Amino acid sequence: MNQNLHMPVNLRTERLSLRAFEPTDVDDVWTYASDPEVTHFRPLPDPYTRDDALDFVKRQILTDWSTNPEFAIVFGPRVIGGVSLHVSVENETAEVGYLLGRPWWGRGLATEAARAVVGWGFRHFGLHKVYARAHVNNQRSWRVMERLGMTREGVLRGHWKMRDEHVDLVYYAVFRDEWTLPTDSCEDQVSSGAT
Ligand SMILES: CC(C)(COP(=O)(O)OP(=O)(O)OC[C@H]1O[C@@H](n2cnc3c(N)ncnc32)[C@H](O)[C@@H]1OP(=O)(O)O)[C@@H](O)C(=O)NCCC(=O)NCCS
Repeated sequence: MNQNLHMPVNLRTERLSLRAFEPTDVDDVWTYASDPEVTHFRPLPDPYTRDDALDFVKRQILTDWSTNPEFAIVFGPRVIGGVSLHVSVENETAEVGYLLGRPWWGRGLATEAARAVVGWGFRHFGLHKVYARAHVNNQRSWRVMERLGMTREGVLRGHWKMRDEHVDLVYYAVFRDEWTLPTDSCEDQVSSGAT
């Protein structure tokens, strides 16, 4: 397991660079997250204002990388989404979450980013299991989970309250010894802190 658990890292995949969020990312985040189709299945403010994007980026910059690494997905010159891991150190588990701006859907970029982060999470934190949850109707999201080799373990009934409605979630997971996807991403330790 990596000793520098508090330090942000950069990951590089074939098409993407994954790094800590930076103050200059606010407008990119606002652009993709203010699209109602992107927030439809997420418990995010609607409408999503520039101040919401500013608050989000501030929280990402202050995040504790030893438990909540938050990666901005960089494609070409801009940030097009994010991938997060919420680690439970005592259980050796983590939840992965991802979001991509709509112009970049349908190209395998979310799967490429999530695959790099989950593979890194297994190595870096010595995780036993990584899981993901999504609104039961968010088929795009659970298809990402399936492309990651996750197994649907069940449905969590009425588990999130979204826009005054209690909605069901699908729950998918993969164990470390089931993780067979190639780890073709490169990793660089970042020398300065995220703050
Ligand atoms: C969930 C979300 C990230 C999925 O994005 P996506 O683009 O569908 O997922 P991927 O990047 O894995 O792309 C898969 C698509 O690209 C295609 N594709 C093209 N090249 C590919 C490649 N090299 N590898 C994998 N898929 C590829 C697949 O066939 C698939 O297309 P299809 O949807 O027409 O079947 C996106 O819909 C999103 O951000 N939604 C809003 C936020 C959200 O709901 N997040 C999840 C919360 S739990």
